[in-house]
Amino acid sequence: MKKSILITGGAGFIGSHVVKLFVSKYPDYQIINLDALTYAGNLENLKEVEGAPNYKFVKADIKDAEALKTIFESHKITDVIHLAAESHVDRSISDPLAFVMTNVIGTVNLLNVAKEFWKGELDQHLFYHVSTDEVYGSLHDGSFFLETTPYDPQSPYSASKASSDHFVRAYANTYKMRTVVSNCSNNYGPNHFPEKLIPLCIHNIKNNKPLPVYGKGENVRDWLFVKDHARAIDTVFHQGKPGETYNIGGFNEWKNIDIVRLLCQKMDEKLGREEGSSEKLITYVTDRAGHDLRYAIDATKIQQELGWEPSLQFEEGIELTIDWYLANQDWLDHVTSGAYQDYYSELYGNR
Ligand code: NAD
Ligand code: TYD
Repeated sequence: MKKSILITGGAGFIGSHVVKLFVSKYPDYQIINLDALTYAGNLENLKEVEGAPNYKFVKADIKDAEALKTIFESHKITDVIHLAAESHVDRSISDPLAFVMTNVIGTVNLLNVAKEFWKGELDQHLFYHVSTDEVYGSLHDGSFFLETTPYDPQSPYSASKASSDHFVRAYANTYKMRTVVSNCSNNYGPNHFPEKLIPLCIHNIKNNKPLPVYGKGENVRDWLFVKDHARAIDTVFHQGKPGETYNIGGFNEWKNIDIVRLLCQKMDEKLGREEGSSEKLITYVTDRAGHDLRYAIDATKIQQELGWEPSLQFEEGIELTIDWYLANQDWLDHVTSGAYQDYYSELYGNR
């Protein structure tokens, strides 16, 4: 059977890299990118695949079950890679319900539609749910998150993602759907929306604006280059064992303040500024409510069982990322001005 893969959230940061990888690497697959184009969805991320014969974009909301049914039927969807979500912790603190609606209700809607559409042949289709390491909570010792670490989400965002992970596993157990879940650490790279730490700092350093560091900047994140995450998703989609979970991470822990300093140093060099000048922009601000101290993934399982490992060292990845933002000022201008939201109507009119 020819694969017709529904990728949700394909106009977002990670989703757009997954779509580009699948469209170019698998010309025999039909790739349907479903995205509601919230503030985080940007079709400009997908310019290089827009005209590809095996690619189609559909604007739809995963909360809309009728729209999902129509898409499954008209594109004879064989598999799902589900990335659509509200993804920013700070927004989840100010508006938790939006996270419940999309991340929980939206995911259950999608599971229901897939289950009905694949009725009688559930063993021939895969529902791949892309999730985060934040479901495991916050580490306060030197340990790492394993696939067996009990869930302990601490923010409305991670609670909504944890809930969606549980629903996916419940559908596997109850209805015998073929599902796979991966939980990844913090991603960075091109097309990252500048509300998140790394692109926000790159943007602010360039524009000589303050760099807001929450609390003391001591919180630790494990950073992975986005294209390595996309490669891992490709690996898990093709080789992952149904019913299994795979943790994905970079074995690359950094304190926030050290990342911010590294960005300042690299940007000073690239922008020809006096050494140490950008560091003066660092501004310590009130800490995030309930701020998780440390995330760190043990990615041994995916390495040993599926042979995936990160391809880029962090220093190399961060150079590529800064260079991308400096070379793509238009992308950043459109995102910060809101003009990127007009791109859809330019391409698709009023549809
Ligand atoms: P993002 O916010 O950049 O993109 C999310 C995309 O989903 C956007 O294009 C948005 O328009 C779309 N979307 C939102 N609500 C929708 C809805 N109701 N219906 C249809 N589309 C909708 O997020 P991201 O950083 O690319 O993350 C993608 C996935 O990966 C998420 O599920 C996230 O939880 C997970 N994840 C992210 C990270 C990270 O570091 N960014 C790490 C691990 C896992
Ligand atoms: P973020 O990029 O929002 O990812 P997440 O919260 O999902 O890990 O934040 C990364 C870390 O950086 C997190 O510890 C919060 C911190 N942070 C700041 O210190 N300042 C900022 O302006 C932002 C957005 C984040």
